[in-house]
Amino acid sequence: MSARVLQSTDLALAVRALRNGELVAIPTETVYGLAGLALDPVALAKIFAAKARPTFDPLIAHVQPSPAGTRLEALATAGLVDFSALQPAARATAEALADACWPGPLTLVLPRARGVPDLCTAGLNSVAVRMPAHPLAQEILRRVGQPLAAPSANRFGRISPTTAAHVLQELGERIDWIVDGGPCAVGVESTVVAVQSDGSCALLRPGGVPQARLETLSGHPVFRPDVSPIALPSPGLLASHYAPVQTLHMLSAPLHALDADARARMLRPEDVVLVASGEAKGLTVAQRVLLSPDGSDSAAAQRLFACLREMDCATGKLYAEPITQTDGLWPAIADRLGRASGPRS
Ligand code: TXA
Ligand code: MG
Repeated sequence: MSARVLQSTDLALAVRALRNGELVAIPTETVYGLAGLALDPVALAKIFAAKARPTFDPLIAHVQPSPAGTRLEALATAGLVDFSALQPAARATAEALADACWPGPLTLVLPRARGVPDLCTAGLNSVAVRMPAHPLAQEILRRVGQPLAAPSANRFGRISPTTAAHVLQELGERIDWIVDGGPCAVGVESTVVAVQSDGSCALLRPGGVPQARLETLSGHPVFRPDVSPIALPSPGLLASHYAPVQTLHMLSAPLHALDADARARMLRPEDVVLVASGEAKGLTVAQRVLLSPDGSDSAAAQRLFACLREMDCATGKLYAEPITQTDGLWPAIADRLGRASGPRS
């Protein structure tokens, strides 16, 4: 059976399914998530099965803004975080980031409360939490009245979905319900940070909140942890992720750095090239997929996954120009492209 796509007027069906321990794909401002009750191990097991996701990869628990108390206190109320295990400097950073960025595309990794199932955290002592900004996600969370675990609603390792139609392509035969909230506004996943005892943050995944903003807000450095393939601090750091079905080849330099002959030798008429912005001289209309028509990082992020899906339909080879910008959301975009073209095991 194919999943039923619900509009905002039909949320009661989605809320009932979630409360019964079933899965529902829901819109968030970053990407669509495959939601299930975060504190129910049976619902969590269904998420891993539907995505074919390995259980070593922990999930993010989503909470609603609480009517009373600070953003952070909502996490204690929801039974997710053990605040007694949080050092004062870490708490100050978490509070500053949550107050400024929530609801929004930031995930905080904090000490886990005892009632959180091992499947949610992959057995780690920490739990990842975020408060989404999409109005339908918030309404669903409020009406369900419990935190929802929601990984991106794609099969494991594949391109994240930013429309209900993408979710239908990815999981239509594996789940029963999809809530259509329109195209996601941010387009790349949340930034994931682990708050350290000294108040600094380890950046586990670049995403919708730029690193520089987190540094300004916390007053502490945000550092990229050393990643050894055998001791990944966060499984979102796997080399191959967000991948099209066809191989994506990363170019070592922008196309304009090549002369016309070299370009013509390399590209066949049926090949397609993801171009960050600008003219990309020498490409035909059919060969060029333009990431950011207005040159902005926000448009590039918003369009990224849809562009990769479009390219995957091409009959020729898939190429992407390297991202040369380093500010705003560009590092998150470069990270996704690097993994989309990463070696597959
Ligand atoms: O924007 C988002 O974050 C989306 C929407 C649906 O909210 N969700 C999402 O979930 O991207 P997912 O499962 O695709 O990515 C969760 C990331 C993974 O990289 C995972 O390894 C990391 O969060 N993570 C979760 N719990 C963690 C923990 N306790 N410690 C370190 N990393 C953790
Ligand atoms: Mg994902």
